[in-house]
Amino acid sequence: MIFSLIFLLDLYFYLGVYSLFNNTITSNLFKFFYWLSSLIVYLMIIYVMLNYEKKTPSIHFNNSILYSSLVFIFLISKFIGIVPLLVDDILRFVKYFARFFQDSENYYDTSRLEFLKKSSLIASGIIFSTFLMGMKWGRYNFKKNFQDIKIDKWPTSLNGFKIVHISDLHLGSFQKVEKLELVVEMINEENPDIVVFTGDLVNNYYYEALPYVNTLKKIKARIGKFSILGNHDYCDYTNLKRSSIEWKKNFNNLLKLQKDAGFDLLLNESRLIDIKNYKFNIVGVENWGAGNFNKDGDLDLSMNDVNDKIPTILLSHDPSHWSEKVLNSDYNIDLQLSGHTHGMQFGIEIPGFKWSPVKYRYSQWAGLYNKHGKQIYVNRGVGHLGYAGRVGIMPDISVLKLYSKI
Ligand SMILES: [Fe+2]
Ligand SMILES: [Fe+2]
Repeated sequence: MIFSLIFLLDLYFYLGVYSLFNNTITSNLFKFFYWLSSLIVYLMIIYVMLNYEKKTPSIHFNNSILYSSLVFIFLISKFIGIVPLLVDDILRFVKYFARFFQDSENYYDTSRLEFLKKSSLIASGIIFSTFLMGMKWGRYNFKKNFQDIKIDKWPTSLNGFKIVHISDLHLGSFQKVEKLELVVEMINEENPDIVVFTGDLVNNYYYEALPYVNTLKKIKARIGKFSILGNHDYCDYTNLKRSSIEWKKNFNNLLKLQKDAGFDLLLNESRLIDIKNYKFNIVGVENWGAGNFNKDGDLDLSMNDVNDKIPTILLSHDPSHWSEKVLNSDYNIDLQLSGHTHGMQFGIEIPGFKWSPVKYRYSQWAGLYNKHGKQIYVNRGVGHLGYAGRVGIMPDISVLKLYSKI
């Protein structure tokens, strides 16, 4: 079924642009390379399908993520490439019917428009090469994003307090320990007071993270390293049922692994940080996401022991938790730190302007936002999922400095 659809898409695109090559040699070359590339992609689809369950464990460092990304790029570029051809066909269809009302001497030409054929080929070429470059140069192009954040109750004596915020490592797709070493180096050179990791350590299984534990251990923070779980850390996107022994084993192993990596994992709980009698709270909820995402996060439970008259920072993986729950609550939560959106790994980000299609799904999707005196900062994610690359929205190491508003 899926193959026939892909093949039809392929054939439609091929027939649409084939006649652009009117000389025999170029048209034969086009024919050969077009169907050769299609054949390679079909084989990749078969490979990815056969290895579906095996694809996650990065412990074997298999290349499924690269194959599935290439398939994705191939399909998306042809999908967008057929838009001008579809426009052309609609025009031809209209013209064809218009013929009935014309005298036969003077009817419209219903052949394809040359410029629409060309734009189809150009559009699909640009998209294919952009996403391919995103795999080569965007995937591990870690970028530090610096952000000063002012908080009303923040003690002036702690002005400049530095939090390095990372998120969404998705180690199952990471494939290179050396690249994570680089991330750790970039974090450590900031000499952070605190490091926070806001979830999605793995894609599904705890063992995806095993090759990286020793590297994660090397992250240094003066006061502590805190983490929470993301929707991918619950092994919900596999065949395992939460009631099964295998699921519980996997989950417990993931919790242990976080501890081994030196993180204080907050599961609907809080920590009071006391620096020479200047105090603030760090609260961590389990994942809570709007729509179909799991809702293990319990804000009331997390805030149980919290005195919110002092500055309070909430770690919550999904930014929809902020707009749906936190803002509507009576809790005095000054700042939420989130991830989850990945900035869709695609968009535009230049000084003073940022855009990504993900903004239509998440109003808070990258950087700092303010509403009713409360703030949220969303990290763009360090790793990747699905598409093994980044275009425009680069892997993010956020360096946050906190200041008093006064
Ligand atoms: Fe994620
Ligand atoms: Fe997520």
